[in-house]
Amino acid sequence: MAKKKAEGYLSGREARRIAKENRRITNAFEKQRKRKNVPESEYLTQMADPNNAVEFDNLHTYFYTDAGVVKSVDGVSFEVPIGKTVGVVGESGCGKSVTSLSLMQLLQRPQGQVVEGEIRLNMGDKAYDVTKMPNEQMQKIRGNYVSMIFQEPMTSLNPVFRIGEQVDEVIFLHHGEGKTKEEVKARTIELLEMVGIANSKGVYQMYPHELSGGMRQRVCIAMALACSPKVIIADEPTTALDVTIQAQVLDLLRNLKDKINSSIMFITHDLGVIAEMADYVVVMYAGRVVEKGTVHEIFSNPAHPYTIGLMASKPVVGKKIDKLYSIPGKVPNPINMPNYCYFKDRCEMCVADCEGEYPCQVQLSPTHFVSCYRYYDKNKQGGEV
Ligand SMILES: Nc1ncnc2c1ncn2[C@@H]1O[C@H](COP(=O)(O)OP(=O)(O)OP(=O)(O)O)[C@@H](O)[C@H]1O
Ligand SMILES: [Mg+2]
Repeated sequence: MAKKKAEGYLSGREARRIAKENRRITNAFEKQRKRKNVPESEYLTQMADPNNAVEFDNLHTYFYTDAGVVKSVDGVSFEVPIGKTVGVVGESGCGKSVTSLSLMQLLQRPQGQVVEGEIRLNMGDKAYDVTKMPNEQMQKIRGNYVSMIFQEPMTSLNPVFRIGEQVDEVIFLHHGEGKTKEEVKARTIELLEMVGIANSKGVYQMYPHELSGGMRQRVCIAMALACSPKVIIADEPTTALDVTIQAQVLDLLRNLKDKINSSIMFITHDLGVIAEMADYVVVMYAGRVVEKGTVHEIFSNPAHPYTIGLMASKPVVGKKIDKLYSIPGKVPNPINMPNYCYFKDRCEMCVADCEGEYPCQVQLSPTHFVSCYRYYDKNKQGGEV
């Protein structure tokens, strides 16, 4: 009798079969995206609400790995209104970065692919579906309309070029037409001053390693804002900084956002930062949105047991406790998701219905939505799953 294989173990033959199948699927996606001269009508779409800058609609982003398909983002829908900040929170690995990288089309390809759903980007007079845009077009959008600030500034700065050259390049690439070298340099220095770098002329000549972490992050913010983008994605921009610098960077982002009237998608683990920065909050768990609402609704009236757990695990000033609460258990394996609520195995508030399939979204207020069986009797038919 054949020996039973340990769970999760793949034979060489099985792995080769998966790899072949993956290549077939990803090649088809890549072929589509590499086409030249794609007519605009293919990716033209309409915003559901013209007051939104971005609308994620049932987004599915998968990674085709040799171990199987990782469903990193599995049906995410939320919107980023114009001029507002939307905070995205959730445990490590729940798909926050993959959601934002899908919007930038910066997924690790060919493995990472958006397989379903739309990401609608408001261009003012028209709207584009980013998921259908070919590479050629996407390059014009990145930086100009949507830009990203990464968690670790050294990953976006090139260590062998001076700061000035790197910021100049961004301006040259996007807004450089008809500008002389001196004009671009003047704009770079203006940007460095705008983000609060005191010795901007000196910093222009420096290399990244000569700056402190906070200064580097400011340079990255200057680069991200160089073309006054409509949407700024900040993926944990302050995690690597100490609290005073963090507060300064957050202030800076807030002021600059108001100056150029853009929207921010703010990804973080830090609920304190969310409370300070965000207008709306989206709580993600295992590749799905489990709850979303205004910052007031999420903080004063958290509905999903996961959000309640997150709130309970943050320290409160003036409240003396021996040990902070931590949510028991761990996130399910994204290759093999259960067919019931993904949080059920960790949930301390289960009801009888939780045995059923993944709960639909239930509306608690015009802006507050939650996917949990505990609210089913209030609004029996949830709507989208
Ligand atoms: N290139 C990749 N190949 C395979 N799987 C990936 C890849 N990138 C991300 N994933 C998987 O996608 C899931 C979501 O990852 P993501 O980076 O979005 O998490 P996150 O919510 O941003 O976490 P963190 O808070 O730690 O940054 C994880 O399970 C991760 O393993
Ligand atoms: Mg991340």
